Amino acid sequence: MNKIVLSGIKPTGIPTLGNYLGALKNFVKLQKEMEDYDFYIFIADLHAITVFQDPKELKQNIKNLAAIYLACGLTEEKLTLFVQSEVNEHAALGYIMQSISYLGELERMTQFKDKMQKQVQGVTSALFTYPALMAADILLYDAKYVPVGEDQKQHLELTRDLAIRFNNRYGETFTVPEGLISEKGARIMDLQDPSKKMDKSSENGRGCIFLLEPLSSIKKKIKSAVTDSEAIVRYDQENKPGIANLMTIYSIISGLSYSEIESKYHGKGYGDFKKDLADIVADEIGVIQNRFQEIINSKKLEELFDQGREKAKAYASRKLQKVYKKVGLGR
Ligand code: TYM
Repeated sequence: MNKIVLSGIKPTGIPTLGNYLGALKNFVKLQKEMEDYDFYIFIADLHAITVFQDPKELKQNIKNLAAIYLACGLTEEKLTLFVQSEVNEHAALGYIMQSISYLGELERMTQFKDKMQKQVQGVTSALFTYPALMAADILLYDAKYVPVGEDQKQHLELTRDLAIRFNNRYGETFTVPEGLISEKGARIMDLQDPSKKMDKSSENGRGCIFLLEPLSSIKKKIKSAVTDSEAIVRYDQENKPGIANLMTIYSIISGLSYSEIESKYHGKGYGDFKKDLADIVADEIGVIQNRFQEIINSKKLEELFDQGREKAKAYASRKLQKVYKKVGLGR
């Protein structure tokens, strides 16, 4: 069996605390735990352009994300870092995946439906076929595990369906991947509206923390996060979604369980809790920001991505040739 863990992030804007806790921090943790696995981590720039991106900003966002990956603590050993568009095979296999996916199953994707609702005009066809490209990203490398946040679960299920469908039609070709969705942090919510996930495109920037924003602004956002009138630090997802979300963030970063946090703040109000949370989040992000500054203009970053591209390309091109042969394409 191929021992590959794979995941990607779109370079649209600056990654958020949601991306960090739901994905990035998890990659780092898994890399430590799964010693005999190779990690393929990429920048999903082809996915980014399903919604218009200013070309100059996109370039900068790609570079920033590259540095953020390393700044978050991924180690170079057993790591293949690359940019999706530099490996043409993604788009090619994406097309094959479109050819075996049905309109009905793509229409059911909640992320697409949500975006359709928000943006009535100018929804691109690529936004609709996006999950087929995501399936290609994963299947191209026979990834066994795919660590993602909760919002990608449905896309992963589709990926599994497509892998199984292809294997049934054309013979065993793809590894059927499994999602790795962490128990805590897979869905970090907006600080101002805890019924919505934290998202960089949300209209209200006050509810979203960006990894490269000034620490003072991060602290301010946490201190003004929406809570409730009970004034007791208690984990109750249903009735106290604001506090539950803050406790989740606290728990992941500090390593304390919910009940340990409850005891720690017993008899204290939200003010103390939020102040401490603001400090621990700012400390953690501060370390990332310092490393980011060291890395962003280093040659090392370029070298790592060059090596990653070559390694990914070698694997992907072999795989795509196999696929073409099975499908009967070419002469
Ligand atoms: P993207 O760029 O939207 O998000 C990157 C990762 O961050 C997670 N995430 C969150 N986790 C917790 N709470 C949140 N509020 C939150 N917001 C985002 C996402 O679940 C994701 O893991 N389609 C993918 C990128 C992609 C990909 C792939 C991932 C393309 N091809 C192949 C894995 C494998 C996306 O748009 O992620």
